[in-house]
Amino acid sequence: MNDAWWQRGVIYQIYPRSFRDANADGIGDLRGILGRLDYCASLGVDALWLSPVYPSPMADFGYDISDYTNIDPVFGTLAQFDELVVEVKRRGMKLILDYVPNHTSDEHPWFKDSRSARASAKRDWYLWHDPAADGGPPNNWLSHFGGSAWQWDPHTEQYYCHAFLKEQPDLNWRNPDVRATMYEVLRFWLARGVDGFRVDVLWHLIKDDQWRDNPPNPGYQPGAPPHYSQVPVYTTDRPEVQGIVAEMRRVVDEFAARVLIGEIYLPLERLMAYYGANLDGVHLPFNFQLLQSDWNARGIAALIDQYEGALPPGGWPNWVLGNHDNPRIASRVGLPQARVAAMLLLTLRGTPTMYYGDELGMVNVPIAADRVRDPLEKNVPGVGLGRDPCRTPMQWDGSLHAGFTSAQPWLPISDDYAVVNVRSEDDDATAILSLYRRLLQLRRSQPALSGGDYEPVATSGDLLAYLRRTRHECLLIALNLGEEPYALSLDPLAKAGRTLLSTYLDRDGEESNGNVALRANEGLIVAL
Ligand code: NOJ
Repeated sequence: MNDAWWQRGVIYQIYPRSFRDANADGIGDLRGILGRLDYCASLGVDALWLSPVYPSPMADFGYDISDYTNIDPVFGTLAQFDELVVEVKRRGMKLILDYVPNHTSDEHPWFKDSRSARASAKRDWYLWHDPAADGGPPNNWLSHFGGSAWQWDPHTEQYYCHAFLKEQPDLNWRNPDVRATMYEVLRFWLARGVDGFRVDVLWHLIKDDQWRDNPPNPGYQPGAPPHYSQVPVYTTDRPEVQGIVAEMRRVVDEFAARVLIGEIYLPLERLMAYYGANLDGVHLPFNFQLLQSDWNARGIAALIDQYEGALPPGGWPNWVLGNHDNPRIASRVGLPQARVAAMLLLTLRGTPTMYYGDELGMVNVPIAADRVRDPLEKNVPGVGLGRDPCRTPMQWDGSLHAGFTSAQPWLPISDDYAVVNVRSEDDDATAILSLYRRLLQLRRSQPALSGGDYEPVATSGDLLAYLRRTRHECLLIALNLGEEPYALSLDPLAKAGRTLLSTYLDRDGEESNGNVALRANEGLIVAL
């Protein structure tokens, strides 16, 4: 039975700071999202995932939380959040929140208490350690955001551990009070009607209890993020994490029909462990392979096969094409291939996650030095790690600031906004937005797409092809990732086929006999 909403449905990620500003401060907010729910519903997506909206000093734009059970005033109020839940559901959609368990803000009352004295009752809620013999950090662990993962606290004369910014101290998940309190946070939102969580850096929660040094990474290439210079064996994916994942799952299962999604950047075989030994882990360990692979047909064909082959029995697949931490797909592969990528994302087996604005073909926006906001770019500048380019405001129309805000937007608006925006693409039957809408409609109307089997079709060169089928239907998806036209023989699959959709949106109902002819950069869905 694969008919849970989170299996059949499509998830749409909203980065709230950048979706719509309703109170003219240049920053997106809940009212802004409320005013655009009809747009989300009209796309045909099933669930909205919001990046964090909790009170936060915004050192990492909401991934540094100072209160887990409230809404930051920059985004609105708890009452507006409750209204959002009602309005999302009224439109037949689900709401997924971000849950950030690895670290709090350094301004969270728990951390303030913890750092106030070694004798604090909350001291053990975080990872404190004496200096090494030379007075330096206890070991060689590195932060993802540059430098040591240890910060000296002169007041209590110990170091605390932070996998990200020093303003994001890591919680001690070995402490049972931390666990119990953080599970209450889940219940707080679940009881308010939230349909599930995307769990931030789930594979980071437990660190080695012997504080051993991470070994060097012999394959490290200069220019890669500095923490890649080590193999993080003692800081991530520790065996004890699995027990915590199972506990979180049990909490979520206290409520009917909720979903738990894990943010996990790990090689395939390790990723699969997060489904849980008995499928008692997260429902969906995010599959980021399409974000990380080169855009070529043979490589992608291989990774789909590897992923499908690695899934545990009963484990439901999922695919991600963009998020707030990675370059936009349209910039990675170019606009013609961004359409092919859309068809790939929405025809693979498993739950797709879309990133706001990708449906318009939004691109990475170059950020002038004086407008950089991302702490990662500030700490590790100039090597292309900054995430501001993929977080720029949603482009609603061709008016000032793209209809996102009436004030100065917190990040610059893309130069292309006069053309690349919802209003103008809505009026253009050939726009990528129209393609996304058609793909989402097809996914709803064709059980073979939302729940059918996946079967690769042998091809060569730049062509990627596969079947999606149920007992009654068989769809061929043929994607030309190259610049040359291509003829794909239907033999021995079928004698003829009927095109349901082309990425160029101009071949509906076309019959093919013997061969399917693909133009450069074209993707087709053909009913066999
Ligand atoms: C992963 C989030 O996606 C990213 O935006 C954030 O900076 C880190 N986790 C730290 O929370």
